[in-house]
Amino acid sequence: MASVHWMTMVIANDDESAAGEGASIESVPGHVFLAKMGKKLLRPGGRRATEELFTLADLKPGERVCEIATNRAVTAMELAGRFGVEVDGVDASEDFLSLARRNVAARGLQDRVRLHVGKGHELPFDDGSFDVVTAEAVITMLPLKRKAETVTEAARVLRPGGRLVIHELAWADDTETEIQKELVAAIRHGANPLTMEQWKALATEAGLGDVTVRTGMMSLMSPRGLIRDEGIGGVCRIGFNVLRTRGAFSRFKTMARFFRRHHQRLRYIVMCAVK
Ligand SMILES: C[S@@+](CC[C@H](N)C(=O)[O-])C[C@H]1O[C@@H](n2cnc3c(N)ncnc32)[C@H](O)[C@@H]1O
Repeated sequence: MASVHWMTMVIANDDESAAGEGASIESVPGHVFLAKMGKKLLRPGGRRATEELFTLADLKPGERVCEIATNRAVTAMELAGRFGVEVDGVDASEDFLSLARRNVAARGLQDRVRLHVGKGHELPFDDGSFDVVTAEAVITMLPLKRKAETVTEAARVLRPGGRLVIHELAWADDTETEIQKELVAAIRHGANPLTMEQWKALATEAGLGDVTVRTGMMSLMSPRGLIRDEGIGGVCRIGFNVLRTRGAFSRFKTMARFFRRHHQRLRYIVMCAVK
């Protein structure tokens, strides 16, 4: 496993670095915990939902794509390699970006995947720079005002006709939000999913239109989702890390149990909206 100081890879509710020194395996946000255990895909609907996102994005070779929350550049590298697009990946965490830089260099993709430290609500790009802006499992993590600022900022950097495509966490219906406190306790992060209608409203209030939505069951920590996303070898690696790391087994169990208990109440959403 890469030797970064994962204890400092902590992104708080409002996406600022938080706990840092002294953060324990019990207190880091769920996505940092899973990344430390070796999980590569940290998104609610896993690879299957990412494939739906690719379909909705309708990418063409040579297009420019901005990926918000690129993390270790897993999707950014796939976009460049599979669709022949140029990608600018942005992430708030310098630690994750250092892993991303290493991955991109190892694949020799530096000329097609550029990486930037930054936040979704203040992207370091000119107006109208991109054909597509994409984000997975990040807007959910932001407070409502910051969600709106991030989508508005994504719209700013899109060219007219450009597409915003996101993959996030949604409540299955409007009455589910009472389990939000439980969600926050399970993942130790102020995640704040929206209903399907609220997700669509976020796009339209940012001036985007032609909204298309796909949705399905969460698979982040289900046995089937883990195997599909990480492969048998990946699942063994995660299991080994969970067993050998003090406190990790109970942390993993708490998160997995929450998602299993509430699997009927949570969904992934993949949404495409056009500028
Ligand atoms: C749950 S992970 C998702 C990573 C990746 N997109 C995936 O689907 O596997 C959230 C990522 O968002 C990054 N992040 C958090 N707040 C951010 C913000 N405001 N702008 C950009 N990146 C942010 C974190 O550093 C982390 O890499």
